[in-house]
Amino acid sequence: MHESSSSVGGRAREAAGRVLGERRGTVPGKAGGEAYAPANIALVKYWGKRDEELKLPVAGSLSVSLGEWGTRTRVSRREDGSGDRVRLNGKELPGDSGFARRVSAFLDLTRPRGDFSVEVVTENTVPTAAGLASSASGFAALAGALDDWFGWGLSERERSVLARLGSGSACRSVGQGFYEWLAGTEEGGGDSYARRVEADWPEFRVGAVVVDAGEKPVGSGEGMRRAVESCPLFGGWKATVERDLAGMKAGLAARDWAAVGGIAEGNAMAMHGLMWATRPPVVYTQAGTLEAMRKVWAARAEGVGVWFTMDAGPNVKLLFDAADEGKVRGWFPEMNVVRGGGASAPR
Ligand code: PMV
Repeated sequence: MHESSSSVGGRAREAAGRVLGERRGTVPGKAGGEAYAPANIALVKYWGKRDEELKLPVAGSLSVSLGEWGTRTRVSRREDGSGDRVRLNGKELPGDSGFARRVSAFLDLTRPRGDFSVEVVTENTVPTAAGLASSASGFAALAGALDDWFGWGLSERERSVLARLGSGSACRSVGQGFYEWLAGTEEGGGDSYARRVEADWPEFRVGAVVVDAGEKPVGSGEGMRRAVESCPLFGGWKATVERDLAGMKAGLAARDWAAVGGIAEGNAMAMHGLMWATRPPVVYTQAGTLEAMRKVWAARAEGVGVWFTMDAGPNVKLLFDAADEGKVRGWFPEMNVVRGGGASAPR
């Protein structure tokens, strides 16, 4: 949650207007709205934007939603009109904090009038010990709560486009299961949204291994910007993603762990390779990250079906089947596990 609110401006409000149309001018018919959205972990990563303000990616990506790990958000009117107020996990955020500003900038996209102030109460259900603070579930839940409150009746695709304007990866947090973010080609971003991949895999597990739960040195927005501008390997990224997306979708359809785990791990390594080759480099990997990676390779060499992925941070997420949880825990006793991949997870 490090991007500045200045990244949301006139073109983003126009893009939100294309989703909401006349509906943006209406005031809510009830006192408040509420929604839950799961966090997600990309199996094929999003790294690099072709449009900063509209958060349009250079390439597609694909993620698994994290069941009961996510964000629940409630919205209601602040009658005194004295500006938005955000409570996160029971604490009121200072109005000038990075996250409060991003939330307000997002609300600017949808408010019926400038003086319409909103109270946002948001709780993360991801255990702090999972080291997985995510803006994705936050903006997807906010878009869902506003939809509930205003009664817009958004389709999942419309909700995905709207959530994307808050945080790119949020467009993949609109439901449970596996979601593919279609990069799209339209300048206004109307065709850049995530849709559910038809694959149900209730035994899919994600284990979180925390290496360092502290603030990351470079936010994802800044890291991506630098990669697009200066990474000599970036030219090959789109083709890598396209190949990995095709292999991943085939692997998910066949519930083929070797394909799914292998591609997810390779794609994460390729993204981190881009980060290392960026000038100046963007290195999230720590000694503990490398240690966990080596442990995964050692476990696999002994026949345990476990793979890893990492995002813009040092923490490692393990991917494995429910049947192997005991064996994986033998290697990583401290991991936190969540069920992903199933339509039966909470909505
Ligand atoms: O949407 P953002 O700006 O939080 O970017 C997320 C980028 C990664 O987590 C590193 C990759 C991904 O696809 O989620």
